[in-house]
Amino acid sequence: MIIRKCSALLLLLLFTLQSTAQQKAGKHDFDFVFRLAERQYTDMLAISKDLHRYPRTSNSDGSVHYDTVDDWTGGFWPGCLWDIYQFTKKDNWKKAAIQWTESLENNQYNTRHHDIGFMMYSSYGNAMKFVPQAAYKKILVQSARSLITRYNPVVKSIKSWNYRKSWDGKTEWFFPVIIDNMMNLELLFYAGKVTGDPLFRQVAINHAETAMKYHIRKDYSSYHVVDYDTITGKMLHQQTCQGFADNSTWARGQAWGIYGFTLMYRETRDMRYLNTAKKMADFFMNHPNLPKDKIPYWDFNVGQPGYKADWKYNPADFNETPRDASAAAITASALLEMQGYLGKKGAPYKAFAIAVLQSLSSPAYLAAPGTNSHFLLKHSVGSIPHGNEIDVPLVYADYYFLEALLRLKNLQ
Ligand code: GLY
Repeated sequence: MIIRKCSALLLLLLFTLQSTAQQKAGKHDFDFVFRLAERQYTDMLAISKDLHRYPRTSNSDGSVHYDTVDDWTGGFWPGCLWDIYQFTKKDNWKKAAIQWTESLENNQYNTRHHDIGFMMYSSYGNAMKFVPQAAYKKILVQSARSLITRYNPVVKSIKSWNYRKSWDGKTEWFFPVIIDNMMNLELLFYAGKVTGDPLFRQVAINHAETAMKYHIRKDYSSYHVVDYDTITGKMLHQQTCQGFADNSTWARGQAWGIYGFTLMYRETRDMRYLNTAKKMADFFMNHPNLPKDKIPYWDFNVGQPGYKADWKYNPADFNETPRDASAAAITASALLEMQGYLGKKGAPYKAFAIAVLQSLSSPAYLAAPGTNSHFLLKHSVGSIPHGNEIDVPLVYADYYFLEALLRLKNLQ
């Protein structure tokens, strides 16, 4: 027992020394993080035998909290496995990634929300890179068809959620669209390319145009939720659901926007999208409320004068304002793509992304082996207004962290 405790302590000490040393040296030890990922996810696989329960976060007792097949995070777990396979090229990771990817097959017909892009592109989309096959292509195309059933040509947007009310209980949303939806457009571009049907691309472009008009403020911060009149197409409400206040900037929403408009530029070469992504990144990177380690608070405006929460916010519930490592990881990954489109002007964006990855790879955010419910990153936030997933690991934080590391490695 004592020997086991001593060796666990020694492991923790070695881990801390190694991750602190690499942070100080200002360089990235990819092997170190991917070795840790292999260790953590080997343990995760060992306890996760039901292929329809997808690791998402941790419960308060430290056990793994699983998502159902039709909820929005299902695809990130196979996505993480594909990321490890991409780095290690080991067959066991490929086998696991295929199994978990294929367990999502029925989702191709899911029209209940907009998240099918997240679910199917991070799983089957990655699978197509490593084990391309006609069956996967068909599933992705059907997924894109399901997604565009939620498109309204009058609004020129894809409906994210079905009817719900805002936090103040007064506003009804009949056609709510969230900034996160920019991420689903990647699936549509894919479907457009493989089918030759111009509809997919056109829907993606129309959606991005509407989002650029109504989600993005003059200072390039973003509204989380925008609601539209389905008959006239008129924009009705600009609010929040997961952020602090309607006029605040929810950190992960800003991150989805940076990533989403970068991918819009990749697919269209329209400079307006690149400019939007860049200015949204500038807002994030230069915000006076961004902590020194560059990992944002969950919302840039928590508790600030001029920002009123419509949900039950009690500052006394928090010893300190929670950070959101997931927003940092998504932003780092997006910036590593975006900087490549900016020539010499890309340097500060790349440097920022590297600094974020160094923070995330330090013991402050990266789990010690055998801890953190088998996830990699600590300190993310699902939704504080819902009182849900506060200061926990989240599978999508891991996914975009690994994706960002792979992008950085490719650059080097
Ligand atoms: N798309 C949901 C979220 O970012 O929490």
